[in-house]
Formats: sequence, C-alpha cells, structure tokens
Amino acid sequence: MIRVATREALRASVAEARRKGHRIGFVPTMGYLHEGHLSLIDEARTRADTVVISVFVNPLQFGPQEDLARYPRDLERDAQLVAARGGDILFAPSVEEMYPHGNAAVVVTAPGLADRLCGAFRPGHFQGVLTVVAKLFHLVTPDIAVFGRKDFQQYVLIRRMAADLDFPVEVVAAPIVRDVDGLALSSRNVYLSAAEREDALLLSRSLRAADAEFRAGFTEAARLIAKARATLAAGRTVSLQYVELVDTSSLDAVSQARAGDVLAVAAIVGSTRLIDNIALHDDAQE
Ligand code: PAJ
Repeated sequence: MIRVATREALRASVAEARRKGHRIGFVPTMGYLHEGHLSLIDEARTRADTVVISVFVNPLQFGPQEDLARYPRDLERDAQLVAARGGDILFAPSVEEMYPHGNAAVVVTAPGLADRLCGAFRPGHFQGVLTVVAKLFHLVTPDIAVFGRKDFQQYVLIRRMAADLDFPVEVVAAPIVRDVDGLALSSRNVYLSAAEREDALLLSRSLRAADAEFRAGFTEAARLIAKARATLAAGRTVSLQYVELVDTSSLDAVSQARAGDVLAVAAIVGSTRLIDNIALHDDAQE
C-alpha cells in the first residue's frame, strides 16, 4: 500500500496506476475505520484494479456545535487496516492541503435534496460533503466510487451530483454493516456509554418493527412510522430527530409504502447523533 498526504503525490500514484491500464476504485472516509468502511474496500476491489481510500475529517461538513474537535482519529491504525484489507493507495491529507485558501469560496449545493431529513437538523452539512467529495473526485478521478447505504441521504446526493455535474464516475451503494446485536457500525459509536449503547439498539429495532408491519401487509406510512416511534419511545437517553419514509430517488415522503422505499431514522442518544435506515421488505438489501 502506498500512503500519500499531498494532492501532487496522489495524482502521481493514480497516474502510475492508469499507465498500467488500471480501473480506479475510490472509497472516501473520515477514518477511524471499522468493518463498515472496510466492506466498501471489498466492494471497490470487485470492480476496480487499484483501490484508493481517503481519510479526511472534513471541517466543511461539521456545524459549529458539532463534534469536529473530538471526532475520533487514529491514522496509524487506519493505515494498517487499509493495508491488511488490500487497499492500494491511502490518501490522508491535512486540512491545509485540502483547503489551501481557507474554506472553499465555491461550493456544491443541492437545494431541495440537501435540506430535508438530516439536512434539516444539520444546516450546511451536505454542502460540505458534496464540496469535499467533488474535490476528491477531481483528485482521484475514479471510475467507480463506493458509498455505504448507512448514510442513505448522502449516497443519494452524491449519485445525483455525479449525474447532474457529469462526473465520469459510477456511484455504487454498499449494504449497511451491523454489529451482531443490530447496531449499525459507526465511528461515533465509541462515544456511547453502556446504557446509551443499549438505547442505541432501539434505532435498528424500530426499523425492523416497522418493516415487520409492512411485511404483514400494512402499507400506510403513518402506521409504520408510528410503530417505529413507539419502539424508540422506550429509550430514556433517546431524543428523536425524525422517522421518515421516503422515495429513494426524490427523498420525498411517501404516504403509501412500496417495497424498496426507505424508512430512515435519526436520534441523539445521550449526546451522540446516530442514524439508521432500512429498505422496506427488500430481501436483497440486508
Ligand atoms: P464516514 O462517516 O467515515 O463514512 C465513509 C463511508 O463509509 C460512507 O460511504 C459511509 O456511508 C460508509 N459507512 C459508514 N458506516 C457504515 C456501515 N455501518 N455500513 C456500511 N457503510 C458504512 O461519510 C463520510 O465519512 C463523509 O461524509 C465523506 C463521504 C467521507 C465525506 O467527507
């Protein structure tokens, strides 16, 4: 595995791979890698010859009251994990390297899609995500890029950015990787106390409860959402932000559920913001 910290070194490594005729796969992350991230490397590997992984905690996507300063970081461990998983190029730039002129004056926005669901609770978040991913796409020039369904809205936005702005990249979605107890893996899970972790399980449990209703033949969104909310209400440390059933392209709320629609939840558990989602009755998903 080659480890690079500058855009110049990254471009040189990618050019080298291109000279060999390689297809380039890309997995962007903010590091503190877990099995969810590593599964994306596996997915990229099946579709590309050289797999580039970026580790960059992007300040642009954190709100002023959010956890930028305390976001977990361990680059040495990440580098070992990427190498062990067969990643080829690890790009871990500094903030100055990515934003040499200070915060970007030109940004990518997606009015409409970015303002709902998580965007309603994290103003500016998806603008920060789209801007850094656009920069990374230009630097890495991937043929394919893999994103987790865990961050479903993010995946939809990036897919749409690539289509609308003609990035020559195929945006691929990978399934959510969960702990044995159902909790979706997240770098932020390290913030949870034992009691909070118990409550955090209610997110996936609430989605499964609503999905069971759907499988039993109930299609009214209001009923499915109420089922999920009732499950979440048991958590004493849970402060719910939203439960919504949405169409997977428009992210519009649907009133009658169809297979494949996504039920998404966000909650603050203790002081940790967690998200999860499920594609209704879609056995291919997870
Ligand atoms: P980060 O939260 O580190 O996630 C990097 C990638 O890993 C994303 O595509 C995310 O959806 C995926 N991922 C996280 N947990 C997962 C899980 N349990 N199962 C499957 N995939 C999972 O998302 C970001 O970083 C940033 O916003 C980024 C796209 C890198 C831009 O800064």
